[in-house]
Amino acid sequence: MTADRPAATRAFWDGLTGEEGEFARQAEYGRAMWAAEPNWGDWSIPESELRILPADLAGLDTVELGCGTAYFSGWLARAGARPVGVDASARQLALAAALQAEYGTDFPLLHADAERVPLRDATFDLALSEYGASSWCDPERWVPEAARLLRPGGLLVFLTASPFLTLCTPAEGRAGDRLLRPYFGLREVETPAFGTTEFQLPYGQWVRVLREAGLVLERLAELRAPREASTPWPFVDAEWAHRWPSECVWVARKEPVDHPIGSVFMGTP
Ligand SMILES: C[S@@+](CC[C@H](N)C(=O)[O-])C[C@H]1O[C@@H](n2cnc3c(N)ncnc32)[C@H](O)[C@@H]1O
Repeated sequence: MTADRPAATRAFWDGLTGEEGEFARQAEYGRAMWAAEPNWGDWSIPESELRILPADLAGLDTVELGCGTAYFSGWLARAGARPVGVDASARQLALAAALQAEYGTDFPLLHADAERVPLRDATFDLALSEYGASSWCDPERWVPEAARLLRPGGLLVFLTASPFLTLCTPAEGRAGDRLLRPYFGLREVETPAFGTTEFQLPYGQWVRVLREAGLVLERLAELRAPREASTPWPFVDAEWAHRWPSECVWVARKEPVDHPIGSVFMGTP
């Protein structure tokens, strides 16, 4: 792994928004998403079809970990929630603030590492990540951190690439129909060209990490591309993602009462 992974990740995202071309592209994407109806992932599958979020968001305290341009929190604010966006990149947050102003919405944006969030325990009803902490942070750190921020009974919802996609994607170019790396031991995925590290786990390890953080898995939505769909991103196409799931939405609930694993009495006295 890169010696200082958080610094390398920050530099990548700060740098991305610093380049004219990429800045323009990201701002354009963020602006289009702010204007859109809530939808999920590369294939823009409407929330009204998937029904992943709580039906009534009004009054919910929400935190988005790795919010980037914060369009997801913008959608939540429009639905009456009280969002907080957290991101490690000052440049991304500047873009988020500009888009907030453009869309007449205002909610707190916090410049912080999603693996160590300077917010109090048990203060949110919904923790969310859409290719933010869910891709860029160590699951052994950010998932317990999200669980800490949730009230008992609160929901963690995150979107990230599927383990299938990670296994089939080469260092450069689009995903193919061959497994290119071992499944067992899957964890850090490096992109040498950018000097960055992202994270992916085998399905069973995701379930373990959630369970150890006191979260109970309620749903795993495997997103399927419509046959004719298109995406602006270069690593997967609709033909692939119609056959295999390229993205997953994980939904897990914090146990309503604290009883950490191991505290349940198992034996005879
Ligand atoms: C794909 S982007 C954001 C996704 C967001 N849904 C969007 O499209 O604007 C990933 C974001 O994760 C943020 N990020 C990466 N590592 C982070 C960390 N350790 N803590 C907080 N944010 C982080 C990056 O700065 C970047 O803004």
